[in-house]
Amino acid sequence: QQAMNIGLLGFGTVGSGVLQIIQEHQDKLYHQIGCGVTVKKILVNDLEKERPGSYTQEQLTTDADEILKDPEIDAVVEVMGGMEEARLYIRQALENGKNVVTANKDVMAEYGSELLDVADANSCDLYYEASVAGGIPILRTLVEGLASDRITKMMGIVNGTTNYILTKMTKEGRLYEEVLKEAQALGYAEADPSSDVDGLDAARKISILGTLGFSMNLDLSDVKMTGIRNVTSEDIQYAKQLGYTMKLIGLASRDNDEVEVSVEPALVPSDHPLASVDDEFNAVYVYGEAVGETMFYGPGAGKLPTATAIVSDLVNVLKNKRLGVSGNSLVLPQFDKKLKADEN
Ligand code: NDP
Ligand code: HSE
Repeated sequence: QQAMNIGLLGFGTVGSGVLQIIQEHQDKLYHQIGCGVTVKKILVNDLEKERPGSYTQEQLTTDADEILKDPEIDAVVEVMGGMEEARLYIRQALENGKNVVTANKDVMAEYGSELLDVADANSCDLYYEASVAGGIPILRTLVEGLASDRITKMMGIVNGTTNYILTKMTKEGRLYEEVLKEAQALGYAEADPSSDVDGLDAARKISILGTLGFSMNLDLSDVKMTGIRNVTSEDIQYAKQLGYTMKLIGLASRDNDEVEVSVEPALVPSDHPLASVDDEFNAVYVYGEAVGETMFYGPGAGKLPTATAIVSDLVNVLKNKRLGVSGNSLVLPQFDKKLKADEN
């Protein structure tokens, strides 16, 4: 079987990680999919920029159509970020019969339902595991692993940048601005880091978690949101003396049809498991009526952890393509468009 071709939209922190994993894990991919994977084209803004990794200049393009309209490209990976352009490209890829993998929580929180309809209508797949909690396979866990349970609460740290900042302010007494710059340099922050520090990124993630965990279409406007901009070093050190650790906590809970979703800085007792989630790491606590308490922990941002989630999604969508199946024919994380809320 000939290698399958993919197109990458974006070649920054995450895109370069995707290329690296595809190149370094060919044996595993071959074993999983039944053929190799080739990155045929990569969309960038700037053709002249120096970039890490092993690629040729011919692979780069600034014309999205060279990917979206190429009949030889089997799947598209969207890792360019942003909203309207990314939404448009995802839509066009699906309309052109290509499966799509995205890490874009902005687009999925806002337009996920619309795009999953487009995927359905075109018998294509749209996977987005990397959009929440980076390398932790939490969406698949909610949709597949806990498929039979009734989830009533999810709580956790879902933004790596703010957790990195709060950790360094708490443990090393460092200044907010300085640590934010470091998080940006490490590739954890969004292009506009105000969405990290103001809680919007975490709000998008918690709304995706709530939508999947509770099987109801949660809107971003349902999320009460406060970021960490006004948290001072004094607040943090005072809390520490009293035995608490400051964390940006996302919460989604439901009691029958009453749903509460929020993101806010919270004082966590320092002996609580969430207090020891440091740096860019994330953790998501999930309570299901039957399973009880579960907790998922891992890197929430960064090149290779995020790329792992993406390439794992890619394995699924390429396998689906090879088998000629799509949508619900294999289990995948997907908004349930029909359910407003569980009946029971
Ligand atoms: P970067 O800013 O590092 O990379 C973005 C890439 O997309 C760049 O290569 C840029 O090109 C290209 N690009 C952006 N806009 C356009 C455009 N309009 N046309 C052509 N190319 C464009 O972002 P990240 O890799 O950090 O993030 C990508 C996505 O992954 C985002 O949606 C983000 O939220 C998500 N994500 C990021 C994580 C992380 O840890 N960084 C973790 C989980 C998800 P050029 O290089 O030429 O400038
Ligand atoms: N900016 C995001 C974060 C990237 O810091 O968590 C991962 O989604």
